[in-house]
Amino acid sequence: MDDLTHRAKKILASNYLNGFTKPAPSLYPYQWNWDSGFIAMAYAHYDEKKAVKEMKSLFSGQWKNGMLPQIVFHVDSDLYFPGPEFWKTDEAEMSPTGIKTSGITMPPVHGFALKYIVDHTTMGSENINEIQFLWDKVFFLHQYLYTLRDPYQEGLPYIIHPWEPGTDNSPILDSVLEKINIDSLSLPDYHRKDLQSEDAIHHRPQKKDYDRYVYLVDLFRKLHYDDKEIFVNSPFLVQDPLFIGILSRSNKDLISLGKSLGRDTQQLEYWDNLTSKSMNEKLWDPRGIYNAYDLKSKETIDVYSNSGFIPLLAGIPDTHQAKIMSGYISSPSFSGTTNAPGYLCPTHAIDHPAHDPQRYWRGPVWLNLNWMLSEGLRGYGNGTLADRIIKDSLELVKENGFFEYFDPRKNNLSPAGCGTDHFSWTAAMVVLMSQENN
Ligand code: DGY
Repeated sequence: MDDLTHRAKKILASNYLNGFTKPAPSLYPYQWNWDSGFIAMAYAHYDEKKAVKEMKSLFSGQWKNGMLPQIVFHVDSDLYFPGPEFWKTDEAEMSPTGIKTSGITMPPVHGFALKYIVDHTTMGSENINEIQFLWDKVFFLHQYLYTLRDPYQEGLPYIIHPWEPGTDNSPILDSVLEKINIDSLSLPDYHRKDLQSEDAIHHRPQKKDYDRYVYLVDLFRKLHYDDKEIFVNSPFLVQDPLFIGILSRSNKDLISLGKSLGRDTQQLEYWDNLTSKSMNEKLWDPRGIYNAYDLKSKETIDVYSNSGFIPLLAGIPDTHQAKIMSGYISSPSFSGTTNAPGYLCPTHAIDHPAHDPQRYWRGPVWLNLNWMLSEGLRGYGNGTLADRIIKDSLELVKENGFFEYFDPRKNNLSPAGCGTDHFSWTAAMVVLMSQENN
């Protein structure tokens, strides 16, 4: 085992609590949704029981309507805002009994995480009941998304909060958030816990973003987290290419796993065909990227963020489209220039005015996005670009440590590591990437 993988496993072990892995030592003290999917995939390489445990622990928070929450509050902590006392989801009819959770979801990585676990362990042959159990839970989540989040039956489930795609302050969401007028008198009082250092002030989302995050949670509380009410009353309903691209990849992996488990996969096939068709008809942009769509104002949002490349992971573009997308990723917009070289892949195009190399999802490199992108490119036979993304990712960690996200500029003199150190999914992605790099 190389030294980096060894260090990655140590970080995962140190963030492990009773049955689940927290994303980082202090800032994120509970179990997070897509974090745990990526972490479980890493465990598949060296501790298969832990991989399944991580997933089961997350799904213990699944709602009665299938929604899988963004956070499961297995422990008490005062390190994070908003905690369970702010979400108040126990007042929602559909929230689970006996376990506290937040009231929104996150990118549905669990279908492909489950298949990854089966492909890399003996669970599929030796512990089939656990896999069947999880398959049903993931199917229930997809059913929730395709029935309660897809009112026009386009196969494009919408997100209801910037925390749902996981890319909180992405410029993709700016135009939607700007339309929300905040009345400071009716906004609940809140105290952020994520701004403990001078750096955090420059790296984390801004106050105007947080005001809107809080406004939306407050609205959902008032609506008792009822999806139909949220659809009618919320100003924020977005079809996002990252969220839907991940869902589609998970559909495909659930279908292939379902077939080997003897399950009926027709419904999933129907949903997934609809998703691919609608993505190409409604969200494809010939620049070489998939756009987002504001369902409230019925406007296309032009995407300049790497979220728009994630449909590669699901095989949604045809080979011609995929070639244009690879060209866009390799262009100076994402790859930098000889004078200003960059690490792949910045979250937002370097030459777009909204790019900020150090602020959360507005420019920095994130390793989970890089892994998904490299997987997607490999599916189209573009191993050269995929290898470059993996090489850049591992180099960033080797030179800076296991940070949450990284400044993409190679010539920048200040340290590239941003956010919190000892970040679990960065460690998890190092485990996956190092395997592939061998
Ligand atoms: C945060 O609080 O920064 C997270 O991104 C929410 O999931």
